[in-house]
Amino acid sequence: MNVIGFIFLASLLCGYCYAAPWVKDDSWAVLIAGSNGWDNYRHQSDVSHAYHLLTHHGIQPERIITIMYDDIANNENNPYPGKIFNRPNGTDVYAGVKIDYRGNEIDNESVLNVLKGNATGNKGKGTGRVLGSTRKEDVFIYYAGHGDVHVLLLLDGTLTKHELDNALTHMYENNMYNKMVFYLESCNSGSMFEGLDETRRLYAVTAANSMQSSFATFCINDQKLPCLSDEFSATWMFNTETHNILSETIGDQVDVAIENTKQSHVCTFGDASIRNDTVSEYQGNAVVWKYTDFGITDQFHEDVQKSVKSTHQILLDKVEQLLIDRNYSMKDVKDRMSDFYEDRQRLTRLVENIVHAVVGSVTKAYHIIMKKPALTTALECHDAVIKAYHKKCIVSFNLNPYAITMSGIFANLCEVVRDPAAILDVINEKCDTRPRFRGVI
Ligand SMILES: *[C@@H]1O[C@H](CO)[C@@H](O)[C@H](O)[C@H]1NC(C)=O
Ligand SMILES: *[C@@H]1O[C@H](CO)[C@@H](O)[C@H](O)[C@H]1NC(C)=O
Ligand SMILES: *[C@@H]1O[C@H](CO)[C@@H](O)[C@H](O)[C@H]1NC(C)=O
Ligand SMILES: *[C@@H]1O[C@H](CO)[C@@H](O)[C@H](O)[C@H]1NC(C)=O
Ligand SMILES: *[C@@H]1O[C@H](CO)[C@@H](O)[C@H](O)[C@H]1NC(C)=O
Repeated sequence: MNVIGFIFLASLLCGYCYAAPWVKDDSWAVLIAGSNGWDNYRHQSDVSHAYHLLTHHGIQPERIITIMYDDIANNENNPYPGKIFNRPNGTDVYAGVKIDYRGNEIDNESVLNVLKGNATGNKGKGTGRVLGSTRKEDVFIYYAGHGDVHVLLLLDGTLTKHELDNALTHMYENNMYNKMVFYLESCNSGSMFEGLDETRRLYAVTAANSMQSSFATFCINDQKLPCLSDEFSATWMFNTETHNILSETIGDQVDVAIENTKQSHVCTFGDASIRNDTVSEYQGNAVVWKYTDFGITDQFHEDVQKSVKSTHQILLDKVEQLLIDRNYSMKDVKDRMSDFYEDRQRLTRLVENIVHAVVGSVTKAYHIIMKKPALTTALECHDAVIKAYHKKCIVSFNLNPYAITMSGIFANLCEVVRDPAAILDVINEKCDTRPRFRGVI
């Protein structure tokens, strides 16, 4: 088809579908990138791409709340100033993204206020926009970032399962949605929804189970950029882009994600009847012109698998690359790497000592440290302990991602002890007397 023909047909089609009575413009969405920094390129890239997917499918920009640090497009390391890519040799996904909260405005308070529709709470921050959905409207939430057992990271801060549960309960009790779909991309993401009540009209889909890393993808790319995307995120977004989402169901999409996310187990929680809803209920139902050839689907899933990496591996590769860039000798590199591992061992020992001091017996401590799965129902205790551990022992989880991997041990400890007071005393005592862990790099 020639260009004129294309434009004619496209405008006819769009004019038609925007006028159509069944076009649904009453869905709301919240998109959250939890990290910052050049090496975490992929999370803001995923969120930018998701923003375009939703608006392209007809969700009104005024009904999307976007939370991202915004230090990637104009990062000093970016060889493509002002641009962000989510696919190898793909199109820029940054242009046109309307960001509501950026930089240091992003913390547990501002995110929780967005979810709870608390405009007073976010007054003066960013655009101040919060969810305004009612019992009649569907809500789609997507988070991409780092996490561990019962915790998501928000830059230097945290969003614990305890806090998220309370916000989701508030939304349910205050009739803030008809139905809700929550896609979560992070390590150990399953732990955020374990035990989710099936009657909440909420269906949650996580990139990994409670114990696994989630995986980044397109880590080796011709553009020489950091990992561009994440395995689960790339998979669901590709499904939206290449299918008619007016008939594709959430169940279809999730099954495709389960099948094609090979490095971790995609898990589902909550109200499974939502699987029968069409994707368009949550991601927009304007009929869109399909740019993507359906035939390349298998190729895409193969490409995703070509350069996957765990968060752990990304970090180690980064350390090694930094050392090599500084022209250290092989011996220097080995020494520095062993410093790095020693720092980790010191942190591990600190946490072991905390557990031991709390429970008072080596055998009990051993069981808490080694026990799996590291999940707890004592979420209030876990929330308090993680916050104290962060404040007293660690400079920043963002700079020292290894430190947050202790979250599961604290979950086990809370499951046994339940009352956080004794744990907080020990954390204060052990960490007040030593410098906080910064991370070696
Ligand atoms: C990206 O583009 C470069 C230069 O045009 C090309 O050599 C390379 O094969 C492309 N890579 C992919 C994955 O399409
Ligand atoms: C947010 O986190 C801070 C610091 O960790 C904490 O003091 C505060 O209570 C948290 N806010 C909410 C709403 O949970
Ligand atoms: C909304 O924010 C205000 C101001 O921070 C706070 O006092 C109030 O408790 C919040 N309401 C809810 C439901 O979280
Ligand atoms: C989905 O719809 C099918 C056919 O209408 C029905 O048999 C099935 O029970 C539904 N599934 C759920 C989980 O509600
Ligand atoms: C590292 O060594 C290479 C080759 O000897 C040199 O070109 C480069 O400038 C050096 N880099 C630094 C940071 O010293």
